[in-house]
Amino acid sequence: MGIPFEKLTPKRWGGEVPGPVERPPLDLGHGVVLDPPVVLSPMAAVTSSPFRRVCRDMGAGMVATEMVSAVGLIHRAPMAVSMVDLVEGESPVCVQIYGKRPEELARAAQIAVELGADVVDLNMGCPMKKVVSSGHGAALLRDVGRVQEIFSAMSEAVDVPVTGKMRAGWEDTSAVEVARAMEAGGAAALTIHGRTRSAMYDGHADLSVIAAVKEAVGIPVIGNGDVCDWVSARRMFSATGCDAVMVARGALGNPWVFREIAADLRGEPIPEPPSPELKRATLLRHVDLYLERFGEGRTCKEIRKHLLWYYRGTPGELVLRKRLSDLTSAEDIRQAIDAALAANVGQTELGAKSHPRASRPPQTKASGVVRDSR
Ligand SMILES: Cc1cc2nc3c(=O)[nH]c(=O)nc-3n(C[C@H](O)[C@H](O)[C@H](O)COP(=O)(O)O)c2cc1C
Repeated sequence: MGIPFEKLTPKRWGGEVPGPVERPPLDLGHGVVLDPPVVLSPMAAVTSSPFRRVCRDMGAGMVATEMVSAVGLIHRAPMAVSMVDLVEGESPVCVQIYGKRPEELARAAQIAVELGADVVDLNMGCPMKKVVSSGHGAALLRDVGRVQEIFSAMSEAVDVPVTGKMRAGWEDTSAVEVARAMEAGGAAALTIHGRTRSAMYDGHADLSVIAAVKEAVGIPVIGNGDVCDWVSARRMFSATGCDAVMVARGALGNPWVFREIAADLRGEPIPEPPSPELKRATLLRHVDLYLERFGEGRTCKEIRKHLLWYYRGTPGELVLRKRLSDLTSAEDIRQAIDAALAANVGQTELGAKSHPRASRPPQTKASGVVRDSR
């Protein structure tokens, strides 16, 4: 996707910890319920089935595939079909498609459902030049009439919830108009990332746009942008009134973010950050799921970025970086994980403190937070 490495860490909000928030499971209709109402975002070259499974195990209420070309699905192009690749145990799962012609998107939605999709989502947010220059992704935000037509066609074509994921607008915040068009076309819910196309990943997500969209439509709204822990999830819920939150970068190397937000929404103690043993066990499961699905060669290539994300900001990251080019077998991967772990022994606290993901604001009575020390 060409996103610079430094932009792969969500922006943190400062300020007071918002008070506790209650949100029931989110019913999207057609028997699809998001419980908890916390979703793993679609991420190109990241949300393949192993990562989706790990995130579901850690408590995500729904997971999403990366965006897949509608035309590719219609032609059953092997690349497009392999990007869907749904496996047992990950339902509810959303297949995200991109395209621009209502009839093509309707047909692609049917194929996604044949391949096992519980929900079909339309990408209306991808800001990348090569995507928008052909009228796809965020380019749809400039054509409200087309948006309504697309959702009518897709909703009529399939018997599962059809949703859309948008940005706050193209250059300005035209989000309300677009959201109303989605609703009028029959969307079951919408996700909004609180940045415009031109903002790319700059600044903070603008929560006021998400709040305005929530106010303007009757369908459920899923808030997205800079949610990376229970505090930022509370902020998203309370500042926007949204019905669910979606997490992208905050889940990279940190699938525990889902159990953390889920626990908070249930009013339960916030789990401690993962111990080195839990981290190792989760990472090994992630690797095993990769090996089962894709074999050694592809696993060695694709697991690299995940390994770095799991150890980002700790001494283990440096150790891993030195070994990455030598990964050629499952055994190499396991040894690299253990070497990273060994580098962090005695450093875990130091690493955790300097690691933005692990830092938590102080507990206050107002926050109603009780830490779980189990
Ligand atoms: C590596 C990467 C790949 C992404 N790919 C997609 C995609 O395929 N479809 C999509 O709708 N959004 C995609 N996004 C955007 C995210 O889903 C999300 O909207 C954005 O990162 C803001 O959420 P966050 O602050 O939680 O990261 C991607 C983001 C990243 C970092």
